[in-house]
Amino acid sequence: MNKISEYSELVQPTHINTAGTLFGGYMLAWLDLAAAKAASEFLEHTDAWGAVTRALDKVEFKEPVFLGDWVKCKSEIVKVGNSSMVVQVSAFAESKDHGKRLACTADITFVAVIKDENGDLVKFDHNLSLDKEK
Ligand SMILES: CC(C)(COP(=O)(O)OP(=O)(O)OC[C@H]1O[C@@H](n2cnc3c(N)ncnc32)[C@H](O)[C@@H]1OP(=O)(O)O)[C@@H](O)C(=O)NCCC(=O)NCCS
Repeated sequence: MNKISEYSELVQPTHINTAGTLFGGYMLAWLDLAAAKAASEFLEHTDAWGAVTRALDKVEFKEPVFLGDWVKCKSEIVKVGNSSMVVQVSAFAESKDHGKRLACTADITFVAVIKDENGDLVKFDHNLSLDKEK
């Protein structure tokens, strides 16, 4: 199995929509951050400056998330290209009141980047495979 990266957020009053559940935009941001952490860890031993989000695919909101839930994201690199990597993220919601359930999933593509001579971020071939992950 590939390395699993973890990222958590607590659902607070400012995150709640008019239906009384977590606003999906916050969940998207958390999925993106969780996947960014996994991408950053994957690139740790390369010369990449970092990684930027290129595409969000297969986003599924499976269960509502409530005030006071912990949202615990588990992320795994499932595919790598030359500069890209696909991170599969699963967000579990958890609380005493509602138990633990798989709330949201997504496949997020990141592209490794470096800064060019003007300071602009440009794609960078990371030369990593899933086998070479440390
Ligand atoms: C990421 C960026 C630097 C890539 O530069 P680019 O010259 O356009 O690069 P390419 O079009 O060749 O794509 C780079 C990689 O992404 C992949 N890619 C492109 N579009 C994709 C899509 N819709 N879905 C999945 N992968 C995609 C390409 O196949 C390529 O992969 P590979 O190098 O592993 O073969 C540039 O598109 C960019 O700056 N985008 C904005 C990023 C951003 O602001 N994100 C939000 C904040 S983090």
